[in-house]
Amino acid sequence: MECGREYEEAYRCSCGGLLDVVYEGKRSVELKGKGVWRYSSFLPDFKKRISLQEGGTPLYRCDRLSERFGVEMHVKFEGANPTGSFKDRGMTVGISRAFELGKKRVVCASTGNTSASMAAYAAKAGMRALVVLPKGKIAMGKLAQSLFYGAEVFEIDGSFDDAMRIVERYADEGYAYMLNSLNPFRPEGQKTIGFEIAEAIKGIDRVFVPVGNAANIWAIYKGFKEFLEEGLMDNMPRMIGVQAKGAMPVVRAYESGIFRAFDNPETVATAIRIGNPVNAKKALTAIKESDGSAIAVSDEEILEAQRDLAVMEGIGVEPASAASFAGVKKLLAEGSIGKSERIVCVTTGHLLKDPDSVMRVSAQPKSIKSYEELLEYEHQDQCGSPA
Ligand code: F0G
Repeated sequence: MECGREYEEAYRCSCGGLLDVVYEGKRSVELKGKGVWRYSSFLPDFKKRISLQEGGTPLYRCDRLSERFGVEMHVKFEGANPTGSFKDRGMTVGISRAFELGKKRVVCASTGNTSASMAAYAAKAGMRALVVLPKGKIAMGKLAQSLFYGAEVFEIDGSFDDAMRIVERYADEGYAYMLNSLNPFRPEGQKTIGFEIAEAIKGIDRVFVPVGNAANIWAIYKGFKEFLEEGLMDNMPRMIGVQAKGAMPVVRAYESGIFRAFDNPETVATAIRIGNPVNAKKALTAIKESDGSAIAVSDEEILEAQRDLAVMEGIGVEPASAASFAGVKKLLAEGSIGKSERIVCVTTGHLLKDPDSVMRVSAQPKSIKSYEELLEYEHQDQCGSPA
């Protein structure tokens, strides 16, 4: 993307820059079916697609939140994908590419969701999956998924960034095909989030996206750009990248103009606990070209936003996903969002991915021994008003 060199197959350019997938010739747009492959005219052509029917997720209009905050709020619920996160969209394309290349082993570093997704798609494709994770920092649901779909799981005493370095070298030396989002085929699948949003609603002002390794916000932006080019959309929404205050290298780069890795990243949103995002340049490009911004939110703000989505809209998301809505609340509080703006929050992973973080902040169940004890609670008005 920087020096213009072209490759048939690579993870990074020899100049160190990032790669993007480009298509030759004019595309004849045909939208058919549901899910990621509905957009096959915008995706690579494979002899065989490895799919678990990913994509086609709900886009909820949030009436209660809209009314409370005075904006038009929509939530794209990526938790509804086969393994419970948006990663499945990129994985169906990435693993199909691996299959086409005749690869037998795939590898990734992960904060949990990529590994869960890759493990499932490798199982479907009959490939061996190796994952390298930061020890003690993977939410329980995600670790359980990776193990149970049959991946070989390695943990390191270190961060995601350390795991990423090991995996990149392992892949560069030819031991396995890498399915992190540094692989340009991953964002190709993920751009379908943008297509689905654009097909469902028009005139969107802003799209809020949690940023970790920093590919997804760019992927969604790329989707919008391609739809604009084809006349399937009228305006480019402003892309707002949201990070946790304890892991905000992209926000710092957006504010200062200089990218530096963020030392010792720490946040309750373990999915985006990343100090040195490999795709930072892509995220910054998406933000700049869409006239967007990058903002940071605290762990408390993330947990509060997670609760708002659950108790006001019945939308269950993991902490990293709630960063998007925490970002909306922050800009509203600052007065930098206009009244009645049309807003989409991309919530990237399901609540059940990380039950521990929820149990830590939830009330405990009340023990009762009988019907009478339940009624006692009611008389103390603990159960709310009668139905
Ligand atoms: N939200 C969730 C739930 C994620 O799992 C991730 C990334 C992101 C947001 C950020 O997306 O990296 O494209 O900026 N998770 C990766 C993983 C790093 O290993 O599962 P990004």
